[in-house]
Amino acid sequence: MAQADPAAACAARPGLGSGLGRTRGSWLLLHRRDELRQFSTWLYPGCAHLPGRIGKEAAAPSWPPRRRRDGRPSARMVLLKGVAHDGFRFFTNYESRKGKELDSNPFASAVFYWEPLSRQVRVEGSVRRLSEQESEQYFHSRPKSSQIGAVVSRQSTVIPDREYLMKRHAELEEQYKETVVPKPAYWGGYVLQPDVVEFWQGQTNRLHDRIVFRRVRDASAPLGHMTHRGEGPWVFERLSP
Ligand SMILES: Cc1cc2nc3c(=O)[nH]c(=O)nc-3n(C[C@H](O)[C@H](O)[C@H](O)COP(=O)(O)O)c2cc1C
Repeated sequence: MAQADPAAACAARPGLGSGLGRTRGSWLLLHRRDELRQFSTWLYPGCAHLPGRIGKEAAAPSWPPRRRRDGRPSARMVLLKGVAHDGFRFFTNYESRKGKELDSNPFASAVFYWEPLSRQVRVEGSVRRLSEQESEQYFHSRPKSSQIGAVVSRQSTVIPDREYLMKRHAELEEQYKETVVPKPAYWGGYVLQPDVVEFWQGQTNRLHDRIVFRRVRDASAPLGHMTHRGEGPWVFERLSP
């Protein structure tokens, strides 16, 4: 039996807006009035095999302390390890450069790009550490060599050469051959709790769709005529591309 073309299957999913050669009716883009559900809709598992899949990679720039005179942003990739009711989860070394930046200025933004479907999602919000229990649970779900890798790497510190890492890795493999690798205190997860989530759907005529969700302080306050209510404290608007 012939396999359905996966890209076509993703594109044909009702309500998503394809971005694959047709311009769709505007509100079809918005599948849900809830920003995290809408994001999950775009993470449709049937599309997960496509290159550049949205669920796998996130660029998460975070900003150095506002007090610093340079005030420059810094960006790096981290793996998105889940989207839950409270936001976007990722794991790293708390003592790394990004860890220190987040300690002093706990805000970040992330951008996801899904090239085959011409989609972008931008997220901005505050960042908090996950509980030790959650970090511990995830740490021990990883392959043992990755756990050892996390212990070996004092991320973002200067080291003499690659040999140094290899030697340390071999020593720890021996040390933990028969035992569980303890999660280092300096390693764990964060959750980026969004205040702004923007969905961008490319269209062939360059009149791209942009829908931005914003968290508002007072959900009962009257809205402008171009602002719509989302779920809970969220409102959403259409932006000019
Ligand atoms: C595709 C990809 C995925 C990555 N995922 C992670 C990750 O989940 N956690 C992490 O700490 N670093 C990850 N990195 C490495 C970071 O981009 C970065 O080099 C590292 O965390 C050190 O950053 P810092 O010195 O600014 O703290 C990833 C890099 C790439 C290219």
